[in-house]
Amino acid sequence: DEKDVARLKEEAARRAVTYVEDGMIVGLGTGSTARFMIAALGERVKNEGLRIEAIATSEASDVQARELGIPMTDFAAHSVFDIGIDGADEVERGTLELVKGLGGALLREKIVASACRRFVVIVDESKLVDRLGTHAPLPVEVVPWGWERAARLLAETGAQAAKPRMVRDKLFVTDNSNLILDCHYPGIDDPAALSRAILAITGVVDHGLFLGMTSEVLVAGTGGVQRLVP
Ligand code: A5P
Repeated sequence: DEKDVARLKEEAARRAVTYVEDGMIVGLGTGSTARFMIAALGERVKNEGLRIEAIATSEASDVQARELGIPMTDFAAHSVFDIGIDGADEVERGTLELVKGLGGALLREKIVASACRRFVVIVDESKLVDRLGTHAPLPVEVVPWGWERAARLLAETGAQAAKPRMVRDKLFVTDNSNLILDCHYPGIDDPAALSRAILAITGVVDHGLFLGMTSEVLVAGTGGVQRLVP
């Protein structure tokens, strides 16, 4: 049930936090699993005097980290970070390619993941899929102006639906003041080709396929935490 899943997320999160060492610059993910990770990192900063600086992938993670007393940095100071730790919505078993962005933070998550020397993904075993696109929609971040056209062109890339994400009866707005179109594919056979096709649509800012970025995945299941490498 939900409690068990939360416990698994926390286990994966705690394992990842053991990778963080003194002096590191750390990218903080977004979502419920990342929340456990930031909490555990905050404990280490407080209890061990671990000296790190962090950058957050969302306003929510930034607020959480600051409240815990984790020192924050930014892109004015650094272009490369030592380690990034983040959740995912789908992890493809064979390739460790990801779908992210159900939390709506995919753009900042991708910017930070791109900047990290080591990118560690933390999930419970329910996130493992044989083929991307089968469990979660693919979120695509678009500029608000003309989004209806972007949605039609996204449908032409094979999405059965490209629907703007809503919160109650309003369009969901990202931390970057953009919209999210949730695209439902009947399974994604060629993620690299789909990535190119989506990025070719003017007005698209980025999408939730994280390709070739995973350094390792920590998967928590009933039998403990498993470490997967590409
Ligand atoms: C946020 O935009 C997402 O990419 C999250 O990383 C992803 O949704 C995982 O969230 P949970 O840990 O809450 O499942």
